[in-house]
Amino acid sequence: MLRAHEAAATPLGSQSIAVVGLGYVGLTTAACFASRRFKTVGIDVNRERIKRLKSGEVVLHEPTLQPLVRGGLDSGALSFSTNIDDVGSADIIFVAVGTPSRRDGSIDLSQVRTAAREVGAALRNVKEKKIVALRSTVVPGTTAGVFAPTLVKHAGKRSTIGFCYNPEFLAEGHVVDDTFHPDRVVIGAEDSKSRYGLASFYHHFYGADRKKVVMTTLENAEVIKYTSNAFLAMKVSFINQVANLCAATPGCDVQVVAGAVGMDRRIGGLFLRAGLGYGGSCFGKDMRALLAYAKKADVGLPLVEATLAANESQPLVALKYAEEELGSLRGKRVALLGLAFKPGTDDMREAVSVRLAEALLAKGAEVVGHDPVANGNARSLLGGRIDFTGSPEDCIKGSDCAILVTEWDEFKKLTPQTFKRRMRHPFVIDGRRIYDDKKFEEAGVGFRAIGLAKATA
Ligand code: UDX
Ligand code: UDX
Repeated sequence: MLRAHEAAATPLGSQSIAVVGLGYVGLTTAACFASRRFKTVGIDVNRERIKRLKSGEVVLHEPTLQPLVRGGLDSGALSFSTNIDDVGSADIIFVAVGTPSRRDGSIDLSQVRTAAREVGAALRNVKEKKIVALRSTVVPGTTAGVFAPTLVKHAGKRSTIGFCYNPEFLAEGHVVDDTFHPDRVVIGAEDSKSRYGLASFYHHFYGADRKKVVMTTLENAEVIKYTSNAFLAMKVSFINQVANLCAATPGCDVQVVAGAVGMDRRIGGLFLRAGLGYGGSCFGKDMRALLAYAKKADVGLPLVEATLAANESQPLVALKYAEEELGSLRGKRVALLGLAFKPGTDDMREAVSVRLAEALLAKGAEVVGHDPVANGNARSLLGGRIDFTGSPEDCIKGSDCAILVTEWDEFKKLTPQTFKRRMRHPFVIDGRRIYDDKKFEEAGVGFRAIGLAKATA
């Protein structure tokens, strides 16, 4: 934990910030820092993105980020640039470029290398001391073994640059809230001066609302990030497996089970919502990278492997329920309610809707989908293969089976009567447990839900 006298080492107001890479993580980081009056420049190689950001346009579906970016621009605390040399005027440089998967699942560090080269070159003729904090998710050893040496080589010096690894734990849809109210701030560093330097910045950033600051080695910080994501994903896969068991056990309901299990403080109730599986830009990518890293280190991670495998097959539970009801799916019309990987975002990365749609198409079904905000992004992945509609009512119209894939609020308003009126064969599969099974039964609508044993006649 940060001790007050150590944190107070660097005076407030003296620190200015640069953030390199303005995806979800970098842009949120920059906008939040600027909102607390730290002079912040956000830098990205993408000219179009910078042009839009300069006019206050946030292309991400993050309702609370937009006002923060505009406010930052208006107050003059936040600026955007494509010029990497602007890092020269910052005291602390955060690097949040992407770390996608390579074809074999291992981490692609090319953006990290490029950013290190460019930041290094930009610091070549700069004399002042800098802290450079890598924020991208990277496999253990990357900050010390790849990022720092590449940057140092291009800077032509070592002594004035201190390296930190400072992972983020932001969940899409509430990135701003997660930045202002994290459960902890993790700072890995190669030396105590850099560690306390960055901790001091966070101390000023959070002010009276002090966060738990964990100060550790670069490598521990890198492992903390992967372990956190893997554990969360494992919780989801585990409860999904329990859900499948509950569904096969008369009298069982996973919601009741998860609710009671989660009341045990040693387990915790979050991330125990059973469903059709997790998606998103991080869980799958990070676990594949972790497995590739572990394989190289000759260490087995069977729980991580099982987490991924369970998630691969989980969307197919809906397909099984559809077949149990309808027999062959050939020529049957199946409506997918929700396409984004979770509600509150238009992000389609690793969305289970894609896997489910492809499996249904392979069975000869006609698939129609609707999402309140992700139809556009879904079109680029599924366009030409499935139909899209402008409303949930149109989506279920004339269908033989409706599968609730993403738990948007507007789907919660659909009544059993609406399904009954509009569907050709009223049969609903609740993939996220938002509906009351009793009401569907009373209305005479066929109903199955993840983790709920089939009603006995
Ligand atoms: C982030 C992290 O960085 C990633 O490691 C983590 O696993 C998930 O969150 P994200 O914010 O989603 O990723 O990044 P992405 O959308 O890929 O954006 C990265 C940005 O960096 C892009 O705008 C890209 O143009 C920019 N970039 C990339 C640079 O400015 N310079 C480069 O050299 C490379
Ligand atoms: C996640 C982590 O939460 C975040 O800390 C990390 O930095 C990036 O990855 P994100 O992918 O934005 O964030 O979404 P999150 O809210 O964690 O949900 C991930 C997926 O798990 C979603 O598809 C969601 O529907 C699913 N999920 C989550 C469940 O199926 N059940 C749950 O109980 C919780």
